[in-house]
Amino acid sequence: MEYRVKNIGLAKDGWNKIRWAESHMPVLMKIKEANQKRRPLTGVRISAVLHVTKETAALVRTLRDLGADVWLAGSNPLSTQDDVAAALAEDGIHVYAWRGENESEYYSNIDIIVNANPNVVMDDGGDLHALLHEKYSNIRIKGGTEETTTGVVRLKAMEESGVLRYPVIAVNNAFTKYLFDNRIGTGQSAIDGILRSTNILLAGKIAVVVGYGWVGRGIATKLKGLGARTIVVEANPFRALEAVMDGFDVLPMDKASKIGDLFVTATGNINVIDVEHFRNMKDGAVLANAGHFNVEIDVKGLKEMSKQVSVIRENLEEYMLENGKRIYLLADGRLVNLVGAEGHPSEVMDLSFSNQALSVIYLTNNSLSNKVINVPEEIDEQVALLKLESMGIEINKMTKEQLNYIKQWKYGT
Ligand code: ADE
Repeated sequence: MEYRVKNIGLAKDGWNKIRWAESHMPVLMKIKEANQKRRPLTGVRISAVLHVTKETAALVRTLRDLGADVWLAGSNPLSTQDDVAAALAEDGIHVYAWRGENESEYYSNIDIIVNANPNVVMDDGGDLHALLHEKYSNIRIKGGTEETTTGVVRLKAMEESGVLRYPVIAVNNAFTKYLFDNRIGTGQSAIDGILRSTNILLAGKIAVVVGYGWVGRGIATKLKGLGARTIVVEANPFRALEAVMDGFDVLPMDKASKIGDLFVTATGNINVIDVEHFRNMKDGAVLANAGHFNVEIDVKGLKEMSKQVSVIRENLEEYMLENGKRIYLLADGRLVNLVGAEGHPSEVMDLSFSNQALSVIYLTNNSLSNKVINVPEEIDEQVALLKLESMGIEINKMTKEQLNYIKQWKYGT
């Protein structure tokens, strides 16, 4: 089968969304336009595990128009936009994804795109890279890219243990990715997911953000901006200090768990909210996760200690604890921005996916060693400059004198 989607009849809505996204992704469109004649990805087969959204559609259509044969599966069982998947299928992309896949469907869709025998792979979270090192170590891969912090951490562990068998460009680590996607993008889209699922008022609420990496910083800043009294929980002393000096209260989780109205996790780690914390919580506490995997909130523990679970509305479940208190879990503890809303806005994904597109071209044109490699500085800078240009913003150029000055060490006071 050329594709597996929920309902091909949804394609018309998908096309409208894709057009909307593409009209808000000027950098990616410019890269497409500049390379379309040359078709630098001719002969390249790309298998991608990415959230199947309107922005991903803009990316995979770009890669296809640059010559690649693209195979796509979702990177989360609940994040696929079915209308977009249908439009992509209609457009000739080999897409295997729908919202609400069970675990075996999720992995069998990834199996299909791996069995297509790609030479380049793109991943969001590291599941595809892990699979290519465990189950499919026979497939020759020229190189890959990785979109997320979580995926890069996994790849670095592979590199350090000497098992990484192809080069991977850490798209996540580009300035034009993490400073905007992780911070500004998740900051807005996580709140979007919380509000679409609950419509609660944030002003005056006590919000607890667990983790103060780029994602946590973004969420905490936006929550504060909307009037929430925001507390940060951190295990890393530098980040905790930064949060304090950014004006947040910093507390350990056992204390924060007693006073929060809303909890948002963004640590990349497991069980940062566990059964002891659930027991401490106020009646009516709302929990959301913005980290890549659904491991940050101990959902299994929450289920086990609840006498009743009821669906209140889409993406909002009520857990009635034995002690009579109610806890509300959003999106089943999965990525609240992609499950409860539509993920990051197109303008932000424009930056991330321009890095992806240029990185794929770069790795197909170069022989790289089997390492985790940063996005080349020229690509990162090109993306920033194109974005500024698209926004009509001019910046300064250093003079020759200034360029020389910052390179020398002799002149001081
Ligand atoms: N990750 C976060 N937001 C996303 C989006 N809109 N599309 C694809 N991946 C995403």
